[in-house]
Amino acid sequence: MRMKGYMETGEEIMRAAPSEEPARQYYFMEKLKPWFLKACAAQGRTLTYNIQTFGCQMNAKDSEKLSGILREIGYEEAATEEADFVLYNTCTVRENANTRVYGRIGYLGRLKRSRSPHMKIALCGCMMQEAHVVAKLQKSYPFVDLIFGTHNIYQLAELLFRQIYYGHMVVEIREEADAVVEELPSERKFSFKAGVNIMYGCNNFCSYCIVPYVRGRERSRRPEDILREMEEMAKSGVTEVMLLGQNVNSYGKTLKTPVSFAELLKLAEEVEGIRRIRFMTPHPKDLSDELIGVMAESKKICRHVHLPVQSGSSRILKLMNRHYTKEDYLALVARIRAAMPDVALTTDIIVGYPGETEEDFMETMDLVSRVRYVSAFTFLYSKRTGTPAAAIKDQVPEETAKERYDRLVGRIREISGEMAQADTGKTAEVLVEEVNAKRHGYVTGRLANNLLVHFPGDESLLGRYVDVSLTECMGFYYIGSQKG
Ligand code: 5AD
Ligand code: SF4
Repeated sequence: MRMKGYMETGEEIMRAAPSEEPARQYYFMEKLKPWFLKACAAQGRTLTYNIQTFGCQMNAKDSEKLSGILREIGYEEAATEEADFVLYNTCTVRENANTRVYGRIGYLGRLKRSRSPHMKIALCGCMMQEAHVVAKLQKSYPFVDLIFGTHNIYQLAELLFRQIYYGHMVVEIREEADAVVEELPSERKFSFKAGVNIMYGCNNFCSYCIVPYVRGRERSRRPEDILREMEEMAKSGVTEVMLLGQNVNSYGKTLKTPVSFAELLKLAEEVEGIRRIRFMTPHPKDLSDELIGVMAESKKICRHVHLPVQSGSSRILKLMNRHYTKEDYLALVARIRAAMPDVALTTDIIVGYPGETEEDFMETMDLVSRVRYVSAFTFLYSKRTGTPAAAIKDQVPEETAKERYDRLVGRIREISGEMAQADTGKTAEVLVEEVNAKRHGYVTGRLANNLLVHFPGDESLLGRYVDVSLTECMGFYYIGSQKG
C-alpha cells in the first residue's frame, strides 16, 4: 500500500529501516515528516500534541522523551487535551489512578467522534504493562490508536508510522527491556532543572507494589552516558539535576565495571555548571555509609533525603518484604543526622496494609513523631492484582484505614509545621521555578531541602538562585521576600 505523500510504499519504508537504535527511530521520524506536512495542510494549521502525565518522576522523564520525539516530527505543544495527538502516560501504583484514566479516555473518544476524526489517541506507561488493562482497552475503547508499554517509549515514531500505515490500533508491549537506548531527542519541561535516569526497573518486590512487574528488572545506565547527558544539560542552562531510579542504592551493581551510587555522585559533582544535585529514591535497607559520607562532604548534593519508610511496625515491614525493622530505620536516620544535622527528611507511608492492627499503626505514629519529617506522602493501601499482598485475606476495612489515615496526616502536618517554623526568619537560597499562578506578582521556588517558597517577583527571576528571607511559615511552604 502506498501512503499519502510517499514515493515508496509503507512496506518498502519499513523494510529499509535500519535495525540499530537509535538510528531506526530517527529514520522513522524523518519518514513521518512528509505525512505530517500533508496532515497539517489538510487541517490548514500546524498539528498539536498534548501529553498528560500521571504518577512519578520516571513517567515525567519519559514524557519529556515522548515530547522530544513528537516535536522532532513537527508537532507543536498544546496546553489542553483538545489537540491532534493526545497521549496519556499512565500510572498503576494505586487503583484510583486507573479509574481516572478510563474516565478520561472516554472523554477523548467523544471528542474524537464529535469534532476531530483525524485525532490520534495514544496510551502508554505502567498501566499498559498489565494484560487485563490492554484487553479491556481493545474491547471497549476501539477508537484508541496506539498502545505501548514502559519498555517501548523510545519507539514512538516507529509505532506512529505503523499506525498510520495500517490504519488501525497498534499495540506494542514488551515484557522486558532489551537495552537502554541512548541519544533520543528530549524536550525538557524546565530549562534550568532536569531529571536524569540513572537506572530503570526494580528488583525489590515489596509485597504491595506493582512496579517490579510493570517496569521490569533493574538496569543501570553507564556512568559515562549519565555524565555526558549532565554535561550537555549544563551547557544548555540546567543547574539542578535529579538523579532518578527506583532504588538508587543498587545503581551500577550489574554494570560490566561495577560503580556504586556514591561513586557516581562524586563524578556527578565534577560536572561544571551544575549547582544542585538531588536523587530519588534510596531504599532504607541498603543506604550506605559511603553515600552518607559523600553527601556530608558535598557542596552540591542537596541535604534532603527522601527515605520511604512505608510502615513503623517491624511486623508489617517484614510482611511488606522491606528487609529492615523500625529500629534499623531509626538507626539509619540517626546516622544520617549525625553526619548532616541540617538534613531534611521526607518519606512515603502506606496505611492499611493487609493485617495492619491498631498497634501496628501506633508504631507508625510513633516513628513519625521520632523522625520528624519535613513532609511525607501518605497513601491508603491499594490492592494491586498480581502482587503477593493482593492475595492476603485479612484486608483492613476501608473505614478503619481512612480513620487511621486522617490521624496520621494530622500528626504529620503538626510536625512538618513545627519543623518549618524552626527555619522561619532565616535566609536561604531559592531556585526560582515559576511565576505563581494564584498569587499575582509572586514567583515560586524551592529551597535545597525541597520546600517551596513564594515571594514577590516576576519572570525575570525564572531559573535564578535568589537569597530569600523566609518571613512566614505556612506549614508546607513559606512566604518570603528577596534579600538585598
Ligand atoms: N498501595 C498504596 N501505596 C503504594 N505505593 C506503592 N504501592 C502501593 C500500593 N499498592 C506507594 C509507596 C511507594 C510510593 C511511590 O507509592 O509508598 O513508596
Ligand atoms: Fe515498589 Fe519496593 Fe521497588 Fe519501590 S522498592 S518500586 S516500593 S517494589
